[in-house]
Amino acid sequence: MENNDINNEILRLYDLSNKVAVVTGAAGQLGGEYVRTLLGAGASVAAFDVWLDNPKSRLKDIKSEKLISFEVDVTDKNSVKQGLEAVCSRFGDPNILINNAAIDAPPNAGEHDTGPFETYPESSWEVMMNVNLKGTFLCCQVVGGHMAKTGGGSIINISSIYGVLSPDQRIYEYKEKPFFKPVAYSVSKSGVLNLTRYLATYWAEQNVRVNTLTLGGVFNNQDETFLRNYSSKVPLGRMAKQDEYNGAILFLASDASSYMTGANLLMDGGFSCW
Ligand SMILES: NC(=O)c1ccc[n+]([C@@H]2O[C@H](COP(=O)([O-])OP(=O)(O)OC[C@H]3O[C@@H](n4cnc5c(N)ncnc54)[C@H](O)[C@@H]3O)[C@@H](O)[C@H]2O)c1
Repeated sequence: MENNDINNEILRLYDLSNKVAVVTGAAGQLGGEYVRTLLGAGASVAAFDVWLDNPKSRLKDIKSEKLISFEVDVTDKNSVKQGLEAVCSRFGDPNILINNAAIDAPPNAGEHDTGPFETYPESSWEVMMNVNLKGTFLCCQVVGGHMAKTGGGSIINISSIYGVLSPDQRIYEYKEKPFFKPVAYSVSKSGVLNLTRYLATYWAEQNVRVNTLTLGGVFNNQDETFLRNYSSKVPLGRMAKQDEYNGAILFLASDASSYMTGANLLMDGGFSCW
């Protein structure tokens, strides 16, 4: 076999031409990266977000006939169904779904969501579980269910190191007001891991692969003390750059991962080794 043939064979593994992808939370910091990655590999992409005007959004900078954006609230089944119908009529049946939409309490979040566990508000629990876990469930049910009927595909559920490990609350001890990474974020992101395993077995015969991609923290102009505290827990010594998960997205979305289902691909700079 010639070198060129080997190159082509390997590159074909990552080719997403003729694929149709749905990315939820596409107007956020990482969603825009995933959209660019999928378009770059040849897919048509439907960007779902409840807040398309998110100032972080880079969707408006992408000029491509293969990209469409829809206002979809992942917590509302009818909204997800309408999004799916729009994708099918514009591009055809989806075969890639990235469940990326979520809410979190970043280091600059309000006190309401970041107080001690003993007084953590039920309303905050409900809102976070609703978007992060029920939203992932509903998108799997509606979009994944459609994939199962129409030939299969790849679902990537996004989790966090805080869904695998407890947050180390000492990272935040420097703050003037007590700050705790909220319990609902951790629990919702843990739920994603077993939703993935459940569906990987449930849909294996329908050729729907379901995997989790678990991320470590991403640099987003956090304050210096936070950056120092967090980075001291990472063997690679820093937070992720926002484009550093794109390779994993391409791997999981494409035939490069054809024998992988029910797995958790953990990319955290080594955070979970210590
Ligand atoms: N950024 C990090 O450090 C980090 C670390 C670990 C895991 N993650 C995970 O990566 C994913 C993306 O994170 P990000 O930093 O890009 O977040 P982000 O806040 O920048 O983007 C999230 C997007 O989801 C959208 N969204 C919220 N509720 C929605 C709903 N009901 N329906 C549809 N869309 C909704 C928001 O409008 C926003 O555009 C999340 O699942 C997050 O938990 C992020």
